[in-house]
Amino acid sequence: MKVLVIGGGAREHALCRSLSQDPAVSELHCAPGNAGIGQLATVHPVDQLDGAAVAALARELAADLVVVGPEAPLVAGVADAVREAGIPVFGPSGAAAQLEGSKAFAKEVMAGAGVPTARSYVCTTPEEAAEALDAFGAPYVVKDDGLAAGKGVVVTADRTAALAHAAGCMEAPPAGGGGRVVIEEYLDGPEVSLFAITDGTTVLPLQPAQDFKRALDGDAGPNTGGMGAYSPLPWAPEGLVAEVLETVLQPTVDELRRRGTPFSGLLYAGLALTSRGTRVIEFNARFGDPETQVVLARLRTPLAGVLLASATGTLADLEPLRWDEGAAVTVVVAAEGYPAAPRSGDPIEGLAAAESADGTVYVLHAGTRLDGEGRVLSAGGRVLSVTATGGSLAEARERAYAGVAEIKLDGSQHRTDIALKAAQ
Ligand code: AMP
Ligand code: GLY
Repeated sequence: MKVLVIGGGAREHALCRSLSQDPAVSELHCAPGNAGIGQLATVHPVDQLDGAAVAALARELAADLVVVGPEAPLVAGVADAVREAGIPVFGPSGAAAQLEGSKAFAKEVMAGAGVPTARSYVCTTPEEAAEALDAFGAPYVVKDDGLAAGKGVVVTADRTAALAHAAGCMEAPPAGGGGRVVIEEYLDGPEVSLFAITDGTTVLPLQPAQDFKRALDGDAGPNTGGMGAYSPLPWAPEGLVAEVLETVLQPTVDELRRRGTPFSGLLYAGLALTSRGTRVIEFNARFGDPETQVVLARLRTPLAGVLLASATGTLADLEPLRWDEGAAVTVVVAAEGYPAAPRSGDPIEGLAAAESADGTVYVLHAGTRLDGEGRVLSAGGRVLSVTATGGSLAEARERAYAGVAEIKLDGSQHRTDIALKAAQ
């Protein structure tokens, strides 16, 4: 099978790593990729947001499967362009990806499907925003309606800051967004990321993971794309996956099919386990980053066949997925200044020393590129995702941090408490 992966972050490096270990995969390509992906796949300098260019590349390569990693190409309709070219694609249509592309649309689908989520208002003026904030009280939750790379959400006890964020989103709507904000009730309780692979009808949940969204230790600092993750979750209630399948994932997939926008690909439910029950915080229309790094580290079933079954509508025929009983932890190494103003172009050293010969510790690249002399340079906010497996979370965590300690990148930052509580 010839597979083309679209994207160039650590999530796509993790996807490429799993695909390269699948004996069914004869050729692996990635566009645009990064310095690490280039060691596993042939990389192509194609604009990932250009559906026609991606479809042309897939045709030229005679790809049997295209896997679209990030949200921006999905929302831009890249999967539609590939599907129209007659090539199986893992990833939803642009219309179905609105589940992530518009928080207001996601709320509407959840209401239609009876899926439990935070009560919310969609606001288009500062006056409406002020009214909504006062209706719920502090802590305030204000979300940009459109895509914002994990940075559109502000959770704060400060009413002035909440109003300022709302006004900012209304003034400068992101591409595709309508200058709307969603203001919702605050959900307490631990967060869980649960991914499911679906073909629009059948839903196959993966193992849950937990992401660390804030920039600094102790969940301080601004929201980021994610600073680390681990799986499994020893503290999660028994039966959580079955409950979420029944109350969230299957009803959402059924509702989208009923609306004429069937969703195939990866449905990501961000959940809060509140004192009043499980609630959806958000949906994403693709694998989460960095949760993918730890979920795929534990998946034993070869990946290509699973993704192809989603793309071809044959998930119901698949054998149950097999999982490693052990644990996985990933720690993100970010550039100085991330998330506000990351600095780039610095040399990275210690990449080989960070990895273990037995394959239990490996470095997944996010924002990296090669310079003219083959040196790896930083080229983004999140630069690396050091990933480790082990018999327990404590072991995986220790190995991941030993790997991080070998990385030399001027000014880099990482959290020191990824999986700390869960490993105790
Ligand atoms: P989102 O982009 O919607 O996942 O939001 C990013 C992060 O903001 C989430 O992972 C939560 O930590 C936090 N958050 C979002 N919505 C809420 C909410 N209703 N209550 C509490 N925290 C929230
Ligand atoms: N880790 C959160 C996300 O991928 O959106």
